[in-house]
Amino acid sequence: MKVLTVGGGGREHAAVEALFRSGAEIYAVMKNANPGIIARAKECEIVGEKDINKVCDFALEHNIEFAYIGPEGPLEAGLVDALENIGVKCAAPTKAAARIETSKVFMRELVQKHNIKGNLGFASFDNAADAEEYLKAIDHDIVVKPIGLTGGKGVKVQGEHLHNHEETMVYINEIFEEHIGGAGVILEEKAIGEEFTQMIFVDGKHIAPMPLVQDHKRAYEGDVGPNTGGMGSYTDADHLLPFVKETDRTESLKILQNIVDAMAEEGCPYRGPMYGQFMLTSTGPKIIEINARFGDPEAMNVLPILETNFADLIKDMSTGKIGKDVKFKNKATVCKYIVPKGYGVESESGHEISVDANAIHACGAEIFYANVDVNSAGQLVTGTSRSIGIVGIADTIAEAEQNCERAAQYVKCDAIFMRHDIGTQALIQRRIDHMKQIRP
Ligand code: AMP
Ligand code: GLY
Repeated sequence: MKVLTVGGGGREHAAVEALFRSGAEIYAVMKNANPGIIARAKECEIVGEKDINKVCDFALEHNIEFAYIGPEGPLEAGLVDALENIGVKCAAPTKAAARIETSKVFMRELVQKHNIKGNLGFASFDNAADAEEYLKAIDHDIVVKPIGLTGGKGVKVQGEHLHNHEETMVYINEIFEEHIGGAGVILEEKAIGEEFTQMIFVDGKHIAPMPLVQDHKRAYEGDVGPNTGGMGSYTDADHLLPFVKETDRTESLKILQNIVDAMAEEGCPYRGPMYGQFMLTSTGPKIIEINARFGDPEAMNVLPILETNFADLIKDMSTGKIGKDVKFKNKATVCKYIVPKGYGVESESGHEISVDANAIHACGAEIFYANVDVNSAGQLVTGTSRSIGIVGIADTIAEAEQNCERAAQYVKCDAIFMRHDIGTQALIQRRIDHMKQIRP
């Protein structure tokens, strides 16, 4: 089966490995020369991922039947609509269906209109003055989000990044003046609790769950600093998380099924992997965001332990035939992203980075290349976004964490950092204690 893959990050490398294992013939397009993807692809082309004409030409040239699209940018640009027009079946949402991620207002209004549980209070604005009026009238903390896409970096939380009314207004003004996200601002009620990710495979109607994952969005150890695309993540062998009960998971899956049903009813049925990010609060899971794709890094946790043939899943998602019994190994995983110095604020890029992949595998870990590139001298160098994901895999989170840490030593570069606290018992215990405190 010939599969087109779009994207050159860690998430896409993980997807390409899973496709390769499934026996698919891979045709890859990406904007950077990801060596992991290049090694597995039959053909690849370095091209802008939103350059719809070039991607379609590549698909036509190679007689592609199915496509997997990693990042949200090409979805928003309408790549799926264009590929389907030329007969390529996509395990990814159309431009209209991708609004579940590309417009935070679309998502909140859909959930509200269809009376789906888990929504948070929200109000959206096309100017700063109206937002200020609203802020003056409410008496609870809020979260400020640009409505459109910002690569996970545009969200600021009152009490954490914004300490008073003035700071909040400075940021809201900045969003309008600099057109961050390009579509106005949404102010959301701040949810208190612990976050988890529930991803699902969707075929327009049916859903099949993946293991729960916990991502870490803050740039620095101890969950402080600016929001990032995600610094690392872990899963547990039982596919739950140490602070999430089976009933919480059932509730989050019901919310996602209701969203999938609502989208079909609204005439924009959803196909492809869907990502639900939830805050587990004292009153159950609340929706933080829904993404129209796998999470990155979360894909690097779940795809290496996927037992079901991934190429079949791509086919099933794009043809409406997803069954309920998608299987994953009962293994724990800990993923830590190695990122360029300054990442989250202003990254330094272009530094040489070297990897001993055999030594990494010998530690019980996988390596996924992300935003790295090959320079004119043929050397692997860092880009401005996350560089390399290392995923430890073992029977317990503790062992997986150790495997990951040992393996990470085999990545060498003089301008990188990572969060060593992800997956450690101390950090996990803090979350368990916090949940006990808010939900005794
Ligand atoms: P997002 O890009 O929407 O996932 O937001 C980035 C991070 O900001 C999330 O991982 C949460 O930690 C935090 N966040 C976003 N929305 C909310 C909310 N409504 N309440 C509390 N925290 C939030
Ligand atoms: N890890 C968060 C995201 O992919 O949006």
